[in-house]
Amino acid sequence: MSVTANLAVIVPTYNERDNVGPLVERLTATLHGISWEVVFVDDDSPDGTADIVRELGRSDPRVRCLQRIGRRGLASACVEGALATAAPVLAVMDADLQHDEGILPEMLQRLTEGNDIVVGSRFAADGSVGAFSRNRTAITRMGTRLSRMVLGHALSDPMSGFFLMRRDVFEQTVRRLSGRGFKILLDIFASSPRPLAFAEVGYHFRLRQAGESKLSTQVMLDYLILLAEKLVDRCLPIRMVLYGLVGMIGLAIHLAVLGSLFKFAGLPFAWSQGVAIVTAMTSNFFLNNRITYRDRPLRGWQLLPGLMSFYAACALGGGINYAVADMVRGVGASWWFAGLSGAVVGAVWNFTVTGLLTWNERRRFARV
Ligand code: GDD
Ligand code: MN
Repeated sequence: MSVTANLAVIVPTYNERDNVGPLVERLTATLHGISWEVVFVDDDSPDGTADIVRELGRSDPRVRCLQRIGRRGLASACVEGALATAAPVLAVMDADLQHDEGILPEMLQRLTEGNDIVVGSRFAADGSVGAFSRNRTAITRMGTRLSRMVLGHALSDPMSGFFLMRRDVFEQTVRRLSGRGFKILLDIFASSPRPLAFAEVGYHFRLRQAGESKLSTQVMLDYLILLAEKLVDRCLPIRMVLYGLVGMIGLAIHLAVLGSLFKFAGLPFAWSQGVAIVTAMTSNFFLNNRITYRDRPLRGWQLLPGLMSFYAACALGGGINYAVADMVRGVGASWWFAGLSGAVVGAVWNFTVTGLLTWNERRRFARV
């Protein structure tokens, strides 16, 4: 028999003193025959929840308390609870008895059927929101639709705070989580390096008996910001915008160099233009390295192959620019349209190829 529990139930708590006792009783009843433990992660609740948990732990070592001082946050509490146990299967649920612990054995069963994660859902078959207020239901439905649009998943209850996953799945994503706000499940799905195989088990969302909900307007705002961030990142990559800005600076540098060499220093035009091109490309490389890719700048010896690949990609981009403009002009378009077409295709080429080649950007959409 293994010494550590097979299943750890992680329960974030804030002012839940009257709920922890009944929850432990229910877990004991429903997890009969399974090796389990429960980790309450309490953010120093003023009502003394942590003391109650430790009291319970004195007579039942399966009940553990992780108390955090000077901290708040449901998502980070879940993460730290999961890190504090060795169990190979992790469940997350609320303390307030709104989540039906009775489906845990079925969730465990579904996990063994090749799923990475099993979600307790209020909206799957057999699920319901019970006597949840109409307002809350509407908000939840809207949030679900929104997150589906943004992240393209098929979860029926992406905001669920009730789920079960294999430990290795958690470990693969934990360093990528934004850890912000309430939406840990959504965060896990959005941050996983690969698509997760999931199943859903419906349950009836119960009414809260004791204590009160901490879901505030601030929490909803957090959620909207999180989705907005992801949306902007997907439709209009911020890198593209920065790359464009650097391109503008490059153009100004190009003209300044060309003007001073040709006009003031009296160099031949071809020479002046050549020097201007190389100067602008070089400064674009260093500016992009500092601004556009500031989260992953090339350093030290990496700068040399980086600069070379940047030159190569841009030179090819120039050729493509020329060829496209020539082709468009060939079918009878006006000079400015032909020039613009070439420039746009060349710029997109440069952005994409230097991103992949120079800054090795393959994870652009993996991380949210
Ligand atoms: N440690 C810790 N720190 N726990 C917290 C904190 C915090 O800052 N805020 C809330 N909790 C705990 C609560 O004590 C409870 O056990 C659980 O997290 C959920 O908080 P509730 O305040 O009961 O949230 P809710 O019922 O409004 O929201 C639930 O349903 C939502 C779906 O509508 C949660 O399960 C959400 O995750 C879920 O999205
Ligand atoms: Mn609740």
